[in-house]
Amino acid sequence: MSSPTPTPTPHIQEPNLSGRVALVTGGSRGLGRAIVHRLCRSGAHVLVNYQRNETAAQQVVEEVADTAGTATAIRADVSSPDEVRSLLDTVAQQHGRLDIFIHNAATFRPMEAANVDLDVFYAEQALALNPLLVGAPQLAKLMEGGGRIIAISGNGASEVVPGYVAPGVAKAALEALVRYLAVEFAPRGISVNAVATAMLDKDDDPRRGHMRDLMTMLAARTPAGHLSRPDDVANAVVWLCGPATDWIHGQVVLADGGLGLRA
Ligand SMILES: NC(=O)c1ccc[n+]([C@@H]2O[C@H](COP(=O)([O-])OP(=O)(O)OC[C@H]3O[C@@H](n4cnc5c(N)ncnc54)[C@H](OP(=O)(O)O)[C@@H]3O)[C@@H](O)[C@H]2O)c1
Repeated sequence: MSSPTPTPTPHIQEPNLSGRVALVTGGSRGLGRAIVHRLCRSGAHVLVNYQRNETAAQQVVEEVADTAGTATAIRADVSSPDEVRSLLDTVAQQHGRLDIFIHNAATFRPMEAANVDLDVFYAEQALALNPLLVGAPQLAKLMEGGGRIIAISGNGASEVVPGYVAPGVAKAALEALVRYLAVEFAPRGISVNAVATAMLDKDDDPRRGHMRDLMTMLAARTPAGHLSRPDDVANAVVWLCGPATDWIHGQVVLADGGLGLRA
């Protein structure tokens, strides 16, 4: 089932990103797709990374055809160091530079901390960390004129979300890596930040059926009135890509409608 096309939020002023080249890992679905839409509406050329589902990635490319920006799909398993290097080599060959890098791809397999599947656990670490860790030297070269790197994190990095130990620990490490890279990259004119969110309400989410009660409870607890939607979070991500945020480095911006404020 395809999701409705994200629509512009009337009170949001789109930053002008025309001429910018952006790469979004996991841009074919969910939050990544919403980020691709927002970047394209701001005029960017966006490389839509995916791992398995080329049809979904191509569909996103078609969806943004009537925006100010453009998009192309690009396959790579960004948990693999070799594929990260080759993805960024391709960006260098095709575009010669990268202005915006959003690392959004992640997976989620529920498990308990005292009974982890180690293969899944370490695979999640590799997926969270390798795009920034392995990719850092190439990103530094691709962003010689300055740039923005934004990692997507989740409330499970700093709170205990049942079953979320693998991505939670991976996102905590990713947030630490964001701070280290931010210090090293700031003198180059590259800002590195994270945007974290809580449980997303996605139209195409297979969890929607069996997690309905949890989603209803979390929506009721969210001060802003509903669960975080991909568009709500994409707005924060694209705000960090704009010129007003030049002075923000190494921060985790929590875009969760205030849910994390509740005791
Ligand atoms: N969903 C939530 O409730 C929630 C809550 C807090 C934080 N977050 C964070 O928000 C971000 C987006 O989550 P989402 O739920 O929107 O994701 P999603 O709908 O599950 O989509 C995941 C995307 O990542 C891609 N992907 C997965 N493994 C990959 C790999 N090894 N290499 C390249 N691409 C890969 C998928 O591509 P293919 O389909 O081609 O495999 C897909 O485009 C994640 O960082 C997640 O941790 C989500």
